[in-house]
Amino acid sequence: MKNILVTGGAGFIGVNFIKMILEKEPGIRIINLDLLTYAGNLESLKQELDNPNHFFIQGNIGDTELIEKIIQEYSVDSIINFAAESHVDRSISDPDIFVKTNVLGTLNLLRNAVKYNVKRFLQVSTDEVYGSLEDSEELFTEITTIKPNSPYSASKASADHFVRAYQHTFGLDTVITRCSNNYGPYQFPEKMIPLCINNILNDKSLPVYGDGLQIRDWLYVKDHCSAIWKVFKNGVSGGIYNIGGCNEKTNLELVKTLLKILDKPESLITFVKDRPGHDRRYAIDAYKIMNTLDWRPSVTFEQGIKKTVEWYLCNKKWLEDVTSGAYRNYYKEMYDGR
Ligand code: NAD
Ligand code: TYD
Repeated sequence: MKNILVTGGAGFIGVNFIKMILEKEPGIRIINLDLLTYAGNLESLKQELDNPNHFFIQGNIGDTELIEKIIQEYSVDSIINFAAESHVDRSISDPDIFVKTNVLGTLNLLRNAVKYNVKRFLQVSTDEVYGSLEDSEELFTEITTIKPNSPYSASKASADHFVRAYQHTFGLDTVITRCSNNYGPYQFPEKMIPLCINNILNDKSLPVYGDGLQIRDWLYVKDHCSAIWKVFKNGVSGGIYNIGGCNEKTNLELVKTLLKILDKPESLITFVKDRPGHDRRYAIDAYKIMNTLDWRPSVTFEQGIKKTVEWYLCNKKWLEDVTSGAYRNYYKEMYDGR
């Protein structure tokens, strides 16, 4: 497979994935379709915009005509779908766009993948579809019952069901990945880690929801990207692969780690009203991908979080500009109407 349509390639994980592929896989052409919502930023791919193996198109995964045109024009032979509305808090206040993009957008891609005989479709999903774990011994496996709790996870779970249905009904070759929380370079500072780093750098308080004892299983974004590539290349058709790094941390532990690395006082921690329906704990059993596809994370949490803080320290201007939307407006104007 040579011509891959990567959707959502201007977002956090998509950017890291595209950089990895362009660097390591010279035979692959990436057609990057991204709507450039508030979360997408082409400044993150500034150096890649001139790469002859990277073609950027601004547009919506829900636009049928556009998807048909792209598949035909670029001889797309496979699709990796990162595009999504991805923030739980936004899904609570405005769920409709999550259905439009995450469910209907994915369905539109699936329909056209069947119509144009696309060889493989990888859906980038999330461990949040499984719901919340209470017991500290329990882990999410690929056969854990899906029980989404937020409008975000409900929309992602729904998309997963459509992926499965397209495999079953139309024989489309699909794979699904379900990863735990990612951290690393180029993450929009509404998510916990870049938000806290940004606030620490500006001596602002760190808003911890509820008691701060909710647990997330953190994975360095580049390790998620290498796992996606393994599943894309060698995953069994129709397979689901959990991805995680066995790094369970409470939110409180996490913010204290960031404060320690940046040498700032714990008095910056402020407990705020909890998120409605807040999932208590996520934890991944990654046995399947480790043992059948020989995937391993390349860094420990301690190494990854230090690298991440260093990256944001070296890229304060990126943080400022994505927060203000300056870069995004510049690129949106550049690509509008092309
Ligand atoms: P993100 O919000 O940073 O990026 C999403 C990208 O999708 C943005 O560039 C945005 O412009 C684009 N987009 C949104 N709607 C679109 C549309 N209708 N058409 C085309 N492009 C559109 O998200 P992320 O953190 O990079 O997550 C990428 C994928 O990985 C998502 O599907 C998410 O559910 C999944 N995931 C994320 C995490 C995580 O911790 N961030 C963990 C597991 C899975
Ligand atoms: P987030 O990065 O939004 O990811 P998700 O909700 O998909 O897990 O949040 C990570 C954890 O941090 C989650 O338990 C919610 C919590 N959180 C806060 O305590 N304060 C905040 O300001 C944010 C954004 C998140």
